[in-house]
Amino acid sequence: MTAPDRTTVAIVGGGPAGLMLAHLLRARGVDSVVLESRPRERVESRQRAGILEHGTVDALREVGADARMVESGMPHDGFAFHVHGERIHVDMQALTGRHVMIWAQTEVVKDLVALRLEQGEPLLFSAEVLAVDKVDGPLSRDGEALVRYRYDGAEHELRADVVVGVDGFHGVARRAIPDDAVRTYERVYPFSWLGILADAPPSSDELVYARHERGFALLSMRSPSVTRAYIQVPNDTDPSSWSDEAIWDELEVRTALGDGSFRLNRGPVTDKSVTPMRSFVAEPMRHGRLFLAGDAAHIVPPTGAKGLNLAVADVRVLAGAISSWVADGSQELLDAYSDTALRRVWRGEHFSWTMTTMLHRDPDADPFDDQLALSHLRLVAQSEAYRTAIAENYRGVPLGM
Ligand code: PHB
Repeated sequence: MTAPDRTTVAIVGGGPAGLMLAHLLRARGVDSVVLESRPRERVESRQRAGILEHGTVDALREVGADARMVESGMPHDGFAFHVHGERIHVDMQALTGRHVMIWAQTEVVKDLVALRLEQGEPLLFSAEVLAVDKVDGPLSRDGEALVRYRYDGAEHELRADVVVGVDGFHGVARRAIPDDAVRTYERVYPFSWLGILADAPPSSDELVYARHERGFALLSMRSPSVTRAYIQVPNDTDPSSWSDEAIWDELEVRTALGDGSFRLNRGPVTDKSVTPMRSFVAEPMRHGRLFLAGDAAHIVPPTGAKGLNLAVADVRVLAGAISSWVADGSQELLDAYSDTALRRVWRGEHFSWTMTTMLHRDPDADPFDDQLALSHLRLVAQSEAYRTAIAENYRGVPLGM
Protein backbone atom coordinates (compact mmCIF):
# COMPACT_ATOMS: atom_id res chain seq x y z
CA MET A 1 0.00 0.00 0.00
CA THR A 2 1.36 3.49 -0.81
CA ALA A 3 1.97 5.75 2.18
CA PRO A 4 -0.92 8.24 2.42
CA ASP A 5 -0.20 11.91 3.22
CA ARG A 6 -3.65 13.45 3.78
CA THR A 7 -6.86 12.27 5.46
CA THR A 8 -9.71 13.57 7.57
CA VAL A 9 -9.04 11.29 10.56
CA ALA A 10 -5.60 9.84 11.30
CA ILE A 11 -6.11 6.76 13.46
CA VAL A 12 -2.98 5.84 15.40
CA GLY A 13 -3.38 2.15 16.28
CA GLY A 14 -4.95 -0.77 14.43
CA GLY A 15 -6.33 -2.77 17.35
CA PRO A 16 -10.05 -3.35 17.77
CA ALA A 17 -10.79 0.27 18.75
CA GLY A 18 -8.92 1.84 15.82
CA LEU A 19 -10.33 -0.61 13.29
CA MET A 20 -13.87 -0.27 14.60
CA LEU A 21 -13.59 3.52 14.49
CA ALA A 22 -12.41 3.41 10.87
CA HIS A 23 -15.41 1.26 9.93
CA LEU A 24 -17.93 3.39 11.83
CA LEU A 25 -16.52 6.54 10.20
CA ARG A 26 -16.64 4.99 6.73
CA ALA A 27 -20.30 4.04 7.32
CA ARG A 28 -20.88 7.76 8.01
CA GLY A 29 -18.97 8.91 4.93
CA VAL A 30 -15.80 10.06 6.74
CA ASP A 31 -12.40 8.96 5.41
CA SER A 32 -9.57 7.85 7.67
CA VAL A 33 -6.14 6.23 7.62
CA VAL A 34 -5.21 3.53 10.15
CA LEU A 35 -1.52 3.24 11.12
CA GLU A 36 -0.53 0.13 13.09
CA SER A 37 3.03 -0.31 14.32
CA ARG A 38 2.98 -4.12 14.48
CA PRO A 39 2.88 -6.56 11.56
CA ARG A 40 -0.49 -8.05 10.65
CA GLU A 41 0.36 -11.53 12.01
CA ARG A 42 1.10 -10.10 15.45
CA VAL A 43 -2.11 -8.07 15.60
CA GLU A 44 -4.13 -11.11 14.60
CA SER A 45 -2.53 -13.58 17.00
CA ARG A 46 -2.53 -11.76 20.31
CA GLN A 47 -4.66 -13.57 22.90
CA ARG A 48 -6.94 -11.17 24.73
CA ALA A 49 -10.31 -11.29 26.46
CA GLY A 50 -13.38 -12.78 24.95
CA ILE A 51 -16.64 -11.33 26.26
CA LEU A 52 -18.62 -8.94 24.08
CA GLU A 53 -21.35 -6.77 25.52
CA HIS A 54 -24.55 -6.26 23.60
CA GLY A 55 -23.42 -2.81 22.36
CA THR A 56 -20.15 -4.27 21.03
CA VAL A 57 -22.10 -6.98 19.19
CA ASP A 58 -24.36 -4.24 17.74
CA ALA A 59 -21.34 -2.29 16.50
CA LEU A 60 -19.91 -5.38 14.75
CA ARG A 61 -23.28 -5.93 13.12
CA GLU A 62 -23.55 -2.28 12.06
CA VAL A 63 -20.22 -2.36 10.22
CA GLY A 64 -20.89 -5.78 8.69
CA ALA A 65 -18.12 -7.68 10.51
CA ASP A 66 -20.43 -10.03 12.40
CA ALA A 67 -20.89 -13.05 10.09
CA ARG A 68 -18.38 -15.38 11.79
CA MET A 69 -19.44 -14.18 15.24
CA VAL A 70 -23.10 -14.97 14.48
CA GLU A 71 -22.04 -18.41 13.28
CA SER A 72 -19.47 -19.36 15.92
CA GLY A 73 -19.86 -16.94 18.85
CA MET A 74 -21.39 -18.37 22.01
CA PRO A 75 -24.23 -16.33 23.56
CA HIS A 76 -24.12 -16.56 27.35
CA ASP A 77 -27.09 -15.89 29.61
CA GLY A 78 -25.25 -15.94 32.92
CA PHE A 79 -22.20 -16.91 34.92
CA ALA A 80 -21.33 -18.40 38.30
CA PHE A 81 -19.20 -17.45 41.25
CA HIS A 82 -17.59 -20.32 43.15
CA VAL A 83 -16.74 -18.96 46.59
CA HIS A 84 -14.78 -21.27 48.85
CA GLY A 85 -16.70 -24.20 47.37
CA GLU A 86 -20.17 -22.63 47.21
CA ARG A 87 -21.90 -21.75 43.95
CA ILE A 88 -23.70 -18.45 43.33
CA HIS A 89 -25.46 -18.22 39.98
CA VAL A 90 -26.02 -14.87 38.25
CA ASP A 91 -28.78 -15.31 35.67
CA MET A 92 -28.09 -12.23 33.57
CA GLN A 93 -30.81 -12.91 31.03
CA ALA A 94 -33.51 -13.32 33.72
CA LEU A 95 -32.28 -10.34 35.75
CA THR A 96 -31.65 -7.87 32.91
CA GLY A 97 -33.19 -9.31 29.73
CA ARG A 98 -29.79 -9.27 28.04
CA HIS A 99 -26.93 -11.67 27.41
CA VAL A 100 -23.27 -11.36 26.41
CA MET A 101 -21.39 -13.07 23.58
CA ILE A 102 -18.23 -15.14 23.94
CA TRP A 103 -16.18 -14.32 20.86
CA ALA A 104 -12.45 -13.73 21.16
CA GLN A 105 -10.98 -10.27 20.58
CA THR A 106 -8.46 -11.93 18.24
CA GLU A 107 -11.32 -13.06 16.00
CA VAL A 108 -12.96 -9.61 16.15
CA VAL A 109 -9.69 -8.08 14.96
CA LYS A 110 -9.27 -10.61 12.12
CA ASP A 111 -12.74 -9.80 10.78
CA LEU A 112 -12.28 -6.02 11.06
CA VAL A 113 -8.90 -6.23 9.26
CA ALA A 114 -10.24 -8.48 6.48
CA LEU A 115 -13.18 -6.17 5.86
CA ARG A 116 -11.01 -3.05 5.76
CA LEU A 117 -8.62 -4.62 3.24
CA GLU A 118 -11.52 -5.95 1.19
CA GLN A 119 -12.87 -2.40 0.98
CA GLY A 120 -9.47 -1.19 -0.23
CA GLU A 121 -9.41 1.41 2.57
CA PRO A 122 -6.06 2.54 4.03
CA LEU A 123 -4.77 0.30 6.80
CA LEU A 124 -0.97 0.15 7.14
CA PHE A 125 0.76 -2.52 9.22
CA SER A 126 4.36 -2.16 10.39
CA ALA A 127 3.82 1.62 10.22
CA GLU A 128 5.62 3.00 13.24
CA VAL A 129 4.28 6.35 14.40
CA LEU A 130 7.23 8.53 15.44
CA ALA A 131 5.33 11.60 16.59
CA VAL A 132 1.91 13.20 16.77
CA ASP A 133 2.36 16.95 16.18
CA LYS A 134 0.42 20.19 15.78
CA VAL A 135 -2.62 19.02 17.69
CA ASP A 136 -2.80 22.21 19.79
CA GLY A 137 -5.40 24.67 18.66
CA PRO A 138 -8.96 24.77 17.38
CA LEU A 139 -10.58 22.26 15.06
CA SER A 140 -10.33 23.02 11.37
CA ARG A 141 -10.83 21.18 8.08
CA ASP A 142 -7.42 22.30 6.83
CA GLY A 143 -5.38 19.27 7.80
CA GLU A 144 -3.33 21.07 10.41
CA ALA A 145 -2.53 18.05 12.58
CA LEU A 146 0.50 16.00 11.66
CA VAL A 147 1.46 12.37 12.20
CA ARG A 148 5.05 11.42 11.38
CA TYR A 149 5.57 7.73 10.70
CA ARG A 150 8.05 5.24 9.32
CA TYR A 151 6.79 2.80 6.71
CA ASP A 152 8.50 0.60 4.18
CA GLY A 153 11.96 1.93 5.07
CA ALA A 154 11.14 5.65 4.73
CA GLU A 155 9.74 8.45 6.89
CA HIS A 156 6.38 9.97 5.95
CA GLU A 157 4.02 12.70 7.10
CA LEU A 158 0.26 12.32 7.28
CA ARG A 159 -1.77 15.52 7.58
CA ALA A 160 -5.17 15.20 9.15
CA ASP A 161 -8.02 17.30 10.55
CA VAL A 162 -8.15 15.23 13.70
CA VAL A 163 -5.94 12.51 15.16
CA VAL A 164 -7.32 9.66 17.24
CA GLY A 165 -4.91 7.86 19.57
CA VAL A 166 -5.95 4.23 19.97
CA ASP A 167 -2.45 2.83 20.33
CA GLY A 168 -2.78 1.34 23.79
CA PHE A 169 -1.41 2.14 27.20
CA HIS A 170 2.22 2.29 26.01
CA GLY A 171 1.43 4.15 22.78
CA VAL A 172 2.86 7.43 21.55
CA ALA A 173 -0.42 9.34 21.15
CA ARG A 174 -1.04 10.11 24.84
CA ARG A 175 2.53 11.41 25.12
CA ALA A 176 1.68 14.18 22.63
CA ILE A 177 -0.38 15.79 25.41
CA PRO A 178 1.67 18.07 27.70
CA ASP A 179 1.89 16.74 31.27
CA ASP A 180 0.13 19.75 32.70
CA ALA A 181 -2.87 19.23 30.40
CA VAL A 182 -3.74 15.74 31.57
CA ARG A 183 -4.56 14.20 34.92
CA THR A 184 -3.94 10.51 35.51
CA TYR A 185 -5.35 8.09 38.07
CA GLU A 186 -3.76 4.73 38.68
CA ARG A 187 -3.94 1.58 40.76
CA VAL A 188 -1.58 -1.35 40.39
CA TYR A 189 -2.64 -4.66 41.96
CA PRO A 190 -0.29 -6.97 43.84
CA PHE A 191 -1.13 -9.97 41.62
CA SER A 192 -1.30 -11.06 37.96
CA TRP A 193 -3.17 -13.66 35.91
CA LEU A 194 -1.55 -16.72 34.42
CA GLY A 195 -3.76 -17.57 31.43
CA ILE A 196 -3.93 -20.73 29.35
CA LEU A 197 -5.61 -21.88 26.17
CA ALA A 198 -6.21 -25.61 26.13
CA ASP A 199 -7.70 -28.23 23.85
CA ALA A 200 -10.29 -29.25 26.42
CA PRO A 201 -14.07 -28.88 26.24
CA PRO A 202 -15.35 -26.20 28.68
CA SER A 203 -16.03 -27.69 32.11
CA SER A 204 -19.27 -25.76 32.46
CA ASP A 205 -21.80 -24.16 30.07
CA GLU A 206 -21.18 -20.80 31.72
CA LEU A 207 -18.13 -18.91 32.94
CA VAL A 208 -16.94 -19.67 36.47
CA TYR A 209 -15.29 -16.94 38.58
CA ALA A 210 -13.79 -18.56 41.68
CA ARG A 211 -12.50 -17.15 44.92
CA HIS A 212 -10.50 -19.53 47.07
CA GLU A 213 -8.09 -19.40 49.98
CA ARG A 214 -5.31 -19.86 47.39
CA GLY A 215 -6.58 -17.06 45.18
CA PHE A 216 -8.73 -16.33 42.13
CA ALA A 217 -9.45 -18.65 39.19
CA LEU A 218 -11.55 -18.17 36.05
CA LEU A 219 -12.86 -20.77 33.64
CA SER A 220 -13.83 -19.37 30.28
CA MET A 221 -13.92 -20.80 26.77
CA ARG A 222 -13.27 -20.07 23.12
CA SER A 223 -15.32 -22.83 21.49
CA PRO A 224 -17.04 -26.13 22.40
CA SER A 225 -13.59 -27.75 22.31
CA VAL A 226 -11.31 -25.00 23.65
CA THR A 227 -11.00 -23.86 27.27
CA ARG A 228 -9.56 -20.49 28.28
CA ALA A 229 -8.64 -20.35 31.96
CA TYR A 230 -6.75 -18.14 34.38
CA ILE A 231 -5.29 -18.36 37.87
CA GLN A 232 -4.12 -15.57 40.13
CA VAL A 233 -0.31 -15.64 40.52
CA PRO A 234 2.23 -13.26 42.11
CA ASN A 235 3.44 -10.34 39.96
CA ASP A 236 6.45 -11.08 37.76
CA THR A 237 5.65 -14.80 37.56
CA ASP A 238 7.47 -16.52 34.71
CA PRO A 239 4.81 -18.57 32.86
CA SER A 240 7.34 -21.28 32.09
CA SER A 241 7.83 -21.83 35.83
CA TRP A 242 4.35 -23.41 35.90
CA SER A 243 3.94 -26.90 34.45
CA ASP A 244 0.65 -27.65 32.69
CA GLU A 245 -0.11 -30.23 35.36
CA ALA A 246 0.41 -27.70 38.16
CA ILE A 247 -1.92 -25.19 36.47
CA TRP A 248 -4.69 -27.78 36.07
CA ASP A 249 -4.23 -28.89 39.70
CA GLU A 250 -4.53 -25.31 40.87
CA LEU A 251 -7.60 -24.67 38.70
CA GLU A 252 -9.16 -27.82 40.10
CA VAL A 253 -8.60 -26.88 43.74
CA ARG A 254 -9.76 -23.28 43.33
CA THR A 255 -12.96 -24.02 41.35
CA ALA A 256 -14.05 -27.15 43.26
CA LEU A 257 -17.50 -27.16 44.87
CA GLY A 258 -17.95 -28.44 48.42
CA ASP A 259 -20.46 -31.11 47.34
CA GLY A 260 -17.98 -32.52 44.81
CA SER A 261 -20.39 -31.84 41.91
CA PHE A 262 -17.96 -29.80 39.78
CA ARG A 263 -15.59 -31.66 37.45
CA LEU A 264 -12.76 -29.99 35.61
CA ASN A 265 -11.98 -31.11 32.04
CA ARG A 266 -8.25 -31.19 31.31
CA GLY A 267 -6.42 -31.23 27.99
CA PRO A 268 -3.21 -30.18 26.22
CA VAL A 269 -2.21 -26.55 26.93
CA THR A 270 -1.53 -24.66 23.67
CA ASP A 271 -0.72 -21.16 24.99
CA LYS A 272 0.45 -19.76 28.33
CA SER A 273 0.96 -16.12 29.31
CA VAL A 274 0.95 -13.74 32.28
CA THR A 275 -1.16 -10.55 32.41
CA PRO A 276 -0.50 -7.86 35.01
CA MET A 277 -3.50 -6.09 36.58
CA ARG A 278 -3.81 -2.34 36.47
CA SER A 279 -6.45 0.38 36.67
CA PHE A 280 -5.58 3.63 34.88
CA VAL A 281 -7.48 6.67 33.60
CA ALA A 282 -6.15 9.74 31.80
CA GLU A 283 -8.46 12.72 31.58
CA PRO A 284 -9.53 14.59 29.61
CA MET A 285 -9.57 12.21 26.63
CA ARG A 286 -8.94 15.12 24.28
CA HIS A 287 -6.27 17.72 23.65
CA GLY A 288 -7.06 20.14 20.82
CA ARG A 289 -7.27 18.08 17.64
CA LEU A 290 -6.18 14.86 19.36
CA PHE A 291 -8.73 12.44 20.82
CA LEU A 292 -7.84 9.36 22.87
CA ALA A 293 -9.88 6.17 23.05
CA GLY A 294 -9.53 2.67 24.49
CA ASP A 295 -6.39 1.57 26.34
CA ALA A 296 -4.54 4.75 25.28
CA ALA A 297 -6.77 6.56 27.79
CA HIS A 298 -7.81 3.91 30.29
CA ILE A 299 -6.97 0.42 31.51
CA VAL A 300 -9.03 -1.94 33.63
CA PRO A 301 -8.02 -5.23 35.22
CA PRO A 302 -9.56 -8.02 33.11
CA THR A 303 -11.83 -9.41 35.84
CA GLY A 304 -14.95 -7.60 34.63
CA ALA A 305 -14.19 -8.27 30.92
CA LYS A 306 -14.57 -4.55 30.23
CA GLY A 307 -11.40 -3.50 28.35
CA LEU A 308 -12.52 -4.17 24.77
CA ASN A 309 -16.09 -3.12 25.49
CA LEU A 310 -15.07 0.26 26.92
CA ALA A 311 -12.84 0.84 23.90
CA VAL A 312 -15.66 0.08 21.46
CA ALA A 313 -18.05 2.31 23.45
CA ASP A 314 -15.52 5.18 23.21
CA VAL A 315 -15.25 4.93 19.44
CA ARG A 316 -19.02 4.62 18.99
CA VAL A 317 -19.40 7.98 20.74
CA LEU A 318 -16.43 9.44 18.87
CA ALA A 319 -17.57 8.27 15.42
CA GLY A 320 -20.91 10.00 15.91
CA ALA A 321 -19.22 13.18 17.14
CA ILE A 322 -16.64 13.37 14.34
CA SER A 323 -19.18 12.67 11.61
CA SER A 324 -21.54 15.30 12.95
CA TRP A 325 -18.68 17.86 12.89
CA VAL A 326 -17.65 16.83 9.37
CA ALA A 327 -21.26 16.97 8.14
CA ASP A 328 -22.20 20.44 9.35
CA GLY A 329 -19.34 21.90 11.36
CA SER A 330 -21.10 21.47 14.70
CA GLN A 331 -18.55 20.88 17.47
CA GLU A 332 -20.98 20.19 20.29
CA LEU A 333 -20.60 16.41 20.34
CA LEU A 334 -16.82 16.56 19.96
CA ASP A 335 -16.65 19.06 22.81
CA ALA A 336 -18.73 16.68 24.93
CA TYR A 337 -16.79 13.54 23.89
CA SER A 338 -14.39 13.33 26.82
CA ASP A 339 -17.06 13.86 29.49
CA THR A 340 -19.49 11.49 27.78
CA ALA A 341 -16.89 8.73 27.39
CA LEU A 342 -15.42 9.19 30.88
CA ARG A 343 -18.75 8.63 32.63
CA ARG A 344 -18.91 5.12 31.17
CA VAL A 345 -15.17 4.62 31.68
CA TRP A 346 -15.48 5.31 35.41
CA ARG A 347 -18.44 2.92 35.63
CA GLY A 348 -16.19 0.28 34.05
CA GLU A 349 -13.31 1.20 36.37
CA HIS A 350 -15.51 0.82 39.42
CA PHE A 351 -17.06 -2.46 38.27
CA SER A 352 -13.67 -3.95 37.35
CA TRP A 353 -12.18 -2.89 40.67
CA THR A 354 -15.20 -4.36 42.51
CA MET A 355 -14.94 -7.71 40.73
CA THR A 356 -11.16 -7.76 41.24
CA THR A 357 -11.12 -6.96 44.95
CA MET A 358 -14.09 -9.21 45.68
CA LEU A 359 -12.58 -12.27 43.96
CA HIS A 360 -8.82 -12.07 44.53
CA ARG A 361 -6.87 -12.75 47.66
CA ASP A 362 -3.78 -10.71 48.42
CA PRO A 363 -1.78 -12.88 50.84
CA ASP A 364 -0.16 -9.76 52.33
CA ALA A 365 -3.36 -7.76 52.72
CA ASP A 366 -4.92 -6.78 55.99
CA PRO A 367 -7.29 -9.65 56.99
CA PHE A 368 -9.96 -6.94 57.28
CA ASP A 369 -10.00 -6.82 53.44
CA ASP A 370 -10.63 -10.58 53.23
CA GLN A 371 -13.63 -10.26 55.51
CA LEU A 372 -15.01 -7.37 53.45
CA ALA A 373 -14.68 -9.38 50.23
CA LEU A 374 -16.39 -12.40 51.76
CA SER A 375 -19.21 -10.30 53.15
CA HIS A 376 -19.56 -8.71 49.72
CA LEU A 377 -19.92 -12.15 48.11
CA ARG A 378 -22.49 -13.23 50.72
CA LEU A 379 -24.49 -10.14 49.79
CA VAL A 380 -24.32 -11.22 46.13
CA ALA A 381 -25.59 -14.68 47.12
CA GLN A 382 -28.42 -13.35 49.26
CA SER A 383 -29.71 -10.31 47.38
CA GLU A 384 -31.36 -10.47 43.97
CA ALA A 385 -31.18 -6.67 43.81
CA TYR A 386 -27.44 -6.87 44.22
CA ARG A 387 -27.07 -9.65 41.64
CA THR A 388 -29.12 -7.50 39.26
CA ALA A 389 -26.70 -4.60 39.70
CA ILE A 390 -23.77 -6.90 38.94
CA ALA A 391 -25.57 -8.35 35.91
CA GLU A 392 -26.39 -4.86 34.57
CA ASN A 393 -22.74 -3.87 34.75
CA TYR A 394 -21.52 -7.16 33.30
CA ARG A 395 -23.77 -7.08 30.25
CA GLY A 396 -22.92 -3.35 29.80
CA VAL A 397 -24.53 -0.05 30.71
CA PRO A 398 -26.02 2.28 28.07
CA LEU A 399 -23.64 4.42 25.99
CA GLY A 400 -24.29 7.84 27.45
CA MET A 401 -24.60 6.65 31.08
C1 PHB B 1 -11.72 -14.57 28.62
O1 PHB B 1 -12.47 -15.43 28.13
O2 PHB B 1 -10.58 -14.38 28.20
C2 PHB B 1 -12.24 -13.76 29.75
C3 PHB B 1 -13.54 -13.94 30.17
C4 PHB B 1 -14.02 -13.19 31.23
C5 PHB B 1 -13.20 -12.29 31.87
C6 PHB B 1 -11.89 -12.12 31.46
C7 PHB B 1 -11.40 -12.86 30.39
O3 PHB B 1 -13.68 -11.60 32.92
